Amino acid sequence: MENFEFVSPTYFVFGKEAECKTGEKLAERGAQKVLLHYGGKSAKESGLLDRIKASLESAGIAWVELGGVRPNPEIRLVREGVALCKEHGVDWVCAIGGGSVIDSAKAIAVGARYEGDVWEIYESKEPRTDILPIAVVLTIPAAGSEASKNAVISNDELGMKTGYANNGQRPKIAFMNPELTFTLPPFQTAAGITDMFCHLLERFFDDVGSVPVTDNLCLSIMNTVRAEAPRVLAEPDNYDARANIMWAGMLCHQGYAGVGRHEDWATHGMEHELSAYDTEITHGAGLAVMFPAWMEYVYSENPDRFAFYGREVFGLRPTGDVEADALSAIDETRAFFASLGMPTTLGELGISEDTIEDAIDFMLPTLKINKGEPFGSFKKLTMEDAANIYRLAL
Ligand code: NZQ
Ligand code: ZN
Repeated sequence: MENFEFVSPTYFVFGKEAECKTGEKLAERGAQKVLLHYGGKSAKESGLLDRIKASLESAGIAWVELGGVRPNPEIRLVREGVALCKEHGVDWVCAIGGGSVIDSAKAIAVGARYEGDVWEIYESKEPRTDILPIAVVLTIPAAGSEASKNAVISNDELGMKTGYANNGQRPKIAFMNPELTFTLPPFQTAAGITDMFCHLLERFFDDVGSVPVTDNLCLSIMNTVRAEAPRVLAEPDNYDARANIMWAGMLCHQGYAGVGRHEDWATHGMEHELSAYDTEITHGAGLAVMFPAWMEYVYSENPDRFAFYGREVFGLRPTGDVEADALSAIDETRAFFASLGMPTTLGELGISEDTIEDAIDFMLPTLKINKGEPFGSFKKLTMEDAANIYRLAL
């Protein structure tokens, strides 16, 4: 087991009507003026925003608001949020939404206590400690940003999507009511499930040997996600299925499932370039295409690890041929994503034989800036390897 340092400061309020406790819990934490930050329409249309405002009002907390966060959140709205916080003396940022809204809120919280332009921090990755505290009302289980140290922001002008990691931007409190996810369209439910499952794959496959306590945690959550996924898609208002998926999404990415390991994250890096190349590409859908391609490209580094995963997660019986067992595990992974309605090829994401080389030329320079070279851990990859994996995903 490798050395590690780990902190998870998030206080969770989980269950029915959790969002109605926002006022009470933020008042306990000394909040006086909150930035309410949300997405395109779901939080407004469902009445969630009004319920949160009522809760804040009854606790005597003032707010300013900024909606309109798009999937693959963009730096311009972050800058607006930073300006609002500075102008109004905001002391807490409350994200109401999923990974995109939460990441935008994290960038605002960092930028609000920075004198320069917030994008500079995304470029320099400089560690900062002066960050506004963040609260989250989660509406889609997927990115795990409700407890993670990461935020990923797009800059359309530069054609980049880049991350910033800092334990200081882990949310201080997360309100998680599974009922809020009943309204998710099947595609978003499925993309979220794919994303959380991939957060475990990124941790499970690396260059560290077995770490049983961490491996078994990963495998247990993978099995739970696999079992609950069809239930939640068949019965969108099944509270228990939604609740299990919601809590799993947090566990997949808050960090425990990777301690003692190096983790890999090559596939996330390659997917982030895809969603910078075409900002309409949904992160989870991009992963559904890229992960099996990455697996096929790298599995021969350690086929035993893949065979082990196939046995533990898909119940595959060993055939005596470990290469064949590893390949079966990869097939099962692709089939699982397909069973959720996810795409399996770049073609389904709008990239064809005719455009793939242009897309690769667009993505590799920023991939190299974001990930460095070589990158990944299970197998160290060059930019040429990345190009081959994109081609394999076609
Ligand atoms: O904008 P609204 O109208 O709210 O619609 C959203 C959005 O269109 C909709 N939605 C959310 N909750 C809903 C709902 N629709 C109906 N009912 C509800 N209850 O869902 C759509 C997608 O939302 P988004 O926040 O984009 O989804 P997700 O949570 O998958 O976040 C994706 C972003 O997170 C980043 C991704 O790269 C991507 O930018 N990630 C962040 C990570 C982190 N911070 O730790 C890690 C991840 O690996 C990931 O990279
Ligand atoms: Zn992800």
